[in-house]
Amino acid sequence: MNTPPMIDKAALIAAACAASSRAYAPYSQFHVGAALGFADGTVVTGANVENASYGLALCAETVAVARAMADGARGGLVAVAVIGGRPGGDGEAVPGPGAVTPCGRCRQVLNEIAQLGATDPVVWSVSAHGVLEMRLSELLPLAFGPANLI
Ligand code: THU
Repeated sequence: MNTPPMIDKAALIAAACAASSRAYAPYSQFHVGAALGFADGTVVTGANVENASYGLALCAETVAVARAMADGARGGLVAVAVIGGRPGGDGEAVPGPGAVTPCGRCRQVLNEIAQLGATDPVVWSVSAHGVLEMRLSELLPLAFGPANLI
């Protein structure tokens, strides 16, 4: 599956980076930004939102999916960009040597909206050395999703 031409890789990563500046991460000091790119050109971003009860932290990708679905999205997800790291002076994540890929829970959350629209989004994960590119199906093989419940 090819990435549709309307998804600008650099622009989606820039949107994720900007979102990371709005992370609420006073406990981990680790800022994450995610940007979802949809087939119609829509971009929806999220940042991680932590909680004084540490285990209740919401990841940037999950926040982005919740925002998109609360706005009515039920498919069309074609690309995801993720960036994470300690915040720089502007609050934006400064990526370290390892690319931040979506955590296991976020892979499942992303799979829900992807499977609803029968897409296999490309996932761009940023590190200090470049951008790791994978398909969601590579990150979450043999995924369980809404298609299993029919
Ligand atoms: N985090 C994300 O937002 N996305 C990921 O894919 C990995 C982890 C957040 C959760 C927590 O607020 C912080 O990064 C440190 O784990």
